[in-house]
Amino acid sequence: MAITSPLPNEKLDGELPANSSDEVIATAPKHIAVIMDGNGRWAKNKFMPRAFGHKAGVDALRRLVEAVPNFGIKTLSVYAFSTENWRRPTEEVEGLFALLKQFVKSDLARLKANNVKVIIQGRREGLSDEILKLIDIVQDETRNNDKLNLVICFNYGGQAEIIDATKKIATDVKNGNLQIENINENLFQDYLFNREIPNPDLIIRTAGEKRLSNFLLWQSAYSEFVFLDVLWPDFKENDLIIALEEYSSRKRRYGGL
Ligand code: IPE
Ligand code: IPE
Ligand code: MG
Repeated sequence: MAITSPLPNEKLDGELPANSSDEVIATAPKHIAVIMDGNGRWAKNKFMPRAFGHKAGVDALRRLVEAVPNFGIKTLSVYAFSTENWRRPTEEVEGLFALLKQFVKSDLARLKANNVKVIIQGRREGLSDEILKLIDIVQDETRNNDKLNLVICFNYGGQAEIIDATKKIATDVKNGNLQIENINENLFQDYLFNREIPNPDLIIRTAGEKRLSNFLLWQSAYSEFVFLDVLWPDFKENDLIIALEEYSSRKRRYGGL
């Protein structure tokens, strides 16, 4: 099934029209999640510092945010900083924090104009008051937007998320607000960082590594995976199309026949 040109946005929630390009709607994932990997290698290839790669990575993210609504995608989650990325040199960690701040400040107006709802998903502990304030502002000011959900996973780890949910569930059981018999998959999901967003249909990882690196462990139970060799700063709309074409050839069975 060929995925060719992007579709006009107003068609996204409508009925499926008959012509062939509209097959994109029928097969398009509603939620894609991206492990944006390869910034460091991209910079190294250019004999530049890693920070240069991270900066170029933000530009690639901007391009993707512009592109995805045209493909019928309602939610884009991106892995921007993992709970394990604290293991990197302080200078690099600080650089990544500075980039988040800069992105939130410089792109807020455009995100608002483009009707993007921004959700920052991850542990708040460890983040400075300044960053926490910016996170609250960007989330508040885009709360009612509904063209695209942009979920930025920052200080995010799948195991940390499951641990935090488990602690909250244990606390509710201890306080008598929850019965153990009522703990099931649906309830557990409600205790995760984000309870509004459906699980990702497609997870894309760039830069060749074939692992999750602690991304969306709970939510990826039935996600499709596409691994691309392209380094994140080089990621273009055509790479998205390659991933969507691969996705459209998959048969999702969810354990059934
Ligand atoms: C991904 O690029 C960005 C973050 C993890 C923040 P890397 O920095 O991991 O780049 P490589 O994997 O070293 O090339
Ligand atoms: C995953 O990439 C984290 C992000 C993209 C933010 P890493 O580069 O940190 O993953 P590993 O270390 O190769 O597993
Ligand atoms: Mg990496």
